[in-house]
Amino acid sequence: MSAADDSKRAVGFAAVDRYVRSGMCVGLGTGTTAHWAIERAGERVAAGDALTAVATSHATEALCRERGIPLVPFAGREIDVAIDGADEVAGDWSLTKGGGGALFREKAVALAARTFVVIVTPEKLVKRLGAFRTPVEVVPFAVEYVERAIASAFGAQVVRRGGDPPFLTDNGNAILDCAFGAIGDPAALDGELRGIHGVVATGLFSNDLTDAVLVAEPDGVRELT
Ligand code: 5RP
Repeated sequence: MSAADDSKRAVGFAAVDRYVRSGMCVGLGTGTTAHWAIERAGERVAAGDALTAVATSHATEALCRERGIPLVPFAGREIDVAIDGADEVAGDWSLTKGGGGALFREKAVALAARTFVVIVTPEKLVKRLGAFRTPVEVVPFAVEYVERAIASAFGAQVVRRGGDPPFLTDNGNAILDCAFGAIGDPAALDGELRGIHGVVATGLFSNDLTDAVLVAEPDGVRELT
């Protein structure tokens, strides 16, 4: 295993060990870091813990099935704890997510979770969001309209994810990856973007969603305070 994988494994395992207890319903994220939280949850189920999980993507759902983790539908249920990776974590704990295209379901699960735990490697920590392009999920019918609207309203450089065929999310939607430069107020930008007809969700997570941030440092897993 590479050193990068070792770090992701350490932080994914730590999140489950610190925040998940038998009897809980756990929201499980998507991506190469969340992968290790799923692996650890699978180990806990195999050892006898009574866990159920809500998956944030088809890929996570498939891995949960492989690891024997009982799945329950999202159905707006309250989730005890959700664990997920991020593409950027700002100093105020707002996030950019959606590098893997699962932003809509990830945000739904984070919103429904009593505790939302973010797991990252140190290069994801930034002062302000924006170096990583903001993913915006868009209904395919409106994609050209939204692309032009974002470019003209914000002067952003907008790139449609995927080529031919375009990338489609698990919800059948397109993704626009938007370069806004440094983002001063992620919650306000999220609201403005969602006001454009055709936008389903954005990868900007306001900091009030985040309850804990665990970072895989070379000498161990550090919890931000
Ligand atoms: C998927 C996500 C991921 O959590 C994010 O892209 C981080 O992924 P990784 O842990 O592989 O770097 O938001 O939509």
